[in-house]
Amino acid sequence: MKFTKAKMFNRKASDPRGKPDQVFKALDLKPGQNIVDIGAGGGYYSLRFAETVGEKGQVYAVDTSQELVEAVKLYAKEKGLGNVKTVLAAEGKLDLPEKSADWIFMRNVCHHLSDRVEYFKKLDAVLKPDGKVAVIDYKKIKSFSFHRIFGHYVLQETIVKEMEEAGYRLEKSFDFLPEQSFTIFTLSSSQF
Ligand SMILES: C[S@@+](CC[C@H](N)C(=O)[O-])C[C@H]1O[C@@H](n2cnc3c(N)ncnc32)[C@H](O)[C@@H]1O
Repeated sequence: MKFTKAKMFNRKASDPRGKPDQVFKALDLKPGQNIVDIGAGGGYYSLRFAETVGEKGQVYAVDTSQELVEAVKLYAKEKGLGNVKTVLAAEGKLDLPEKSADWIFMRNVCHHLSDRVEYFKKLDAVLKPDGKVAVIDYKKIKSFSFHRIFGHYVLQETIVKEMEEAGYRLEKSFDFLPEQSFTIFTLSSSQF
């Protein structure tokens, strides 16, 4: 079956247990904004972002998997969304327009990054001075959960510490997700 992985990621991302509608509400995106979705997977969030920001906005769906990038490109075309650009990224490298993003969104991807502080530092080049970074990742929960056994999680305090080291400050965090932490950052240098 074509794009099995993309479909699996989208099933998971749209599962009510991950409270996608509440995540959207919390981000409070506006028409015309530019959003970078790093580790976009099957594009569930990228496509919803694109519908919200509209024609004057732009979504960059970034992933290291060629198959996933192709899937997102096809899904965007099928939905008639001309404001989704897919970006095939090399590990640790981001080739995106400078200082253009209102939001960088990273859901369940931080645990894949090998040098997170260095990676977070590079986001600075892409983010507008008043832009925000939203990070969602698995909490260390039940002892025998898949995420814990395979190390697919990053503690929220680790994310906050590493983001601070990389030049960001914690703006707010939400605790409505049962399995994940959800934290929003701004640049430390930002006046906003
Ligand atoms: C668990 S999936 C999450 C997908 C999506 N964010 C979601 O919530 O449905 C992690 C994704 O991150 C991608 N990924 C892993 N390392 C990456 C990197 N260095 N840069 C961009 N994407 C990466 C994987 O290919 C995969 O699509």
